[in-house]
Amino acid sequence: MAVIICGTGSYIPPCSMDNNDIAKLVETSDEWIRERTGVVRRHVIREETTVSMAARAGRRALEQAGIEAGEVDLILVSTISSNVILPCAACEVQRELGAVNATCFDLNAACTGFLLGYNTAAAYLESGVYNTALVIGSESLSNLTNWSDRTTCILFGDGAGAAVMQKGGGRHYLPVTHSNGAKGGALTLKSRHDQSVLTGERDPEELLGPEYFMQMDGQAVFKFAVRSVPQAVEEVLEANQVKKEEISCYILHQANRRIVEAVAKRLEEPLEKFPMNLQEYGNTSSASIPILLDELVQQGKVKRGAKIVLAGFGAGLSWGASILDWA
Ligand code: COA
Repeated sequence: MAVIICGTGSYIPPCSMDNNDIAKLVETSDEWIRERTGVVRRHVIREETTVSMAARAGRRALEQAGIEAGEVDLILVSTISSNVILPCAACEVQRELGAVNATCFDLNAACTGFLLGYNTAAAYLESGVYNTALVIGSESLSNLTNWSDRTTCILFGDGAGAAVMQKGGGRHYLPVTHSNGAKGGALTLKSRHDQSVLTGERDPEELLGPEYFMQMDGQAVFKFAVRSVPQAVEEVLEANQVKKEEISCYILHQANRRIVEAVAKRLEEPLEKFPMNLQEYGNTSSASIPILLDELVQQGKVKRGAKIVLAGFGAGLSWGASILDWA
């Protein structure tokens, strides 16, 4: 038994910051950011929240699928930047959508989150536990960004993407996923609830320290990505006896143009098979894969029967790849 994606949706906050706006905050330039990352602009929340963006993306995906909210059995939200801890973002989305029959939970696997959400939903659908799943990646990374750190603030953006999944009659593919907690120090962010409230007063200034925003060893993450993503893609193709020539496109997590180019080169695949939108949105963590997928669908660029590879990588460290047939 296989799964199919029967609808996609996304939400991008209208407010945007281009590289020149960033250059007013830190010592950098449009030229440097474009050259090193490919990012030109990123969108950031104003009135929106992680939950409100997730709900809008989810609603659009359900509309496109032609599925009523009441038919959804599972809502899974992947996020590292929810505006709520309790209830979970997925339960808030359930309330917004009126998806009264859904079981809801969140998943935190950073930029690999949507891929792991997709795999988790697929496992539930294939085992017959649920029939219809709504998987969402939604991030407000602008809230977690240190806007005085030029090594990170140039990279990230906000947004949400969603996919409705159901059981389908096609082929079942095994996913490939990996984690390496021993290398987790390369990309970190401390919780603002990291100390016992019983041990005494806490200086509010402390919460503004750099460890409470995203911190990254950029070169280490870069090297990890360009080595491990092609390996995961090769592994998933091998595990499922699929040839590269059969793949229509590779939807990679949108972190950096140079990473995407290096992955294409290592796989000896043409860059045209690696669509990108990071120039417009920056790195939106777990939202990047479903936003790009939705854009390709809206533009009519995903044809029925197309074999697609999804590949995610990021904090954890975590990474992986999955294959799907577009129905
Ligand atoms: N503007 C201008 N100069 C900058 C800068 C900026 N925004 N950020 C760093 N620099 C400077 C550095 O201080 C350094 O100066 P020095 O040579 O005088 O010391 C120089 O540029 C080179 O820095 P380096 O860190 O070697 O740059 P890089 O080529 O590795 O590019 C990243 C930095 C962050 C763009 C790159 O490492 C990267 O994209 N890594 C992957 C990050 C990522 O995708 N993370 C998320 C994964 S999910």
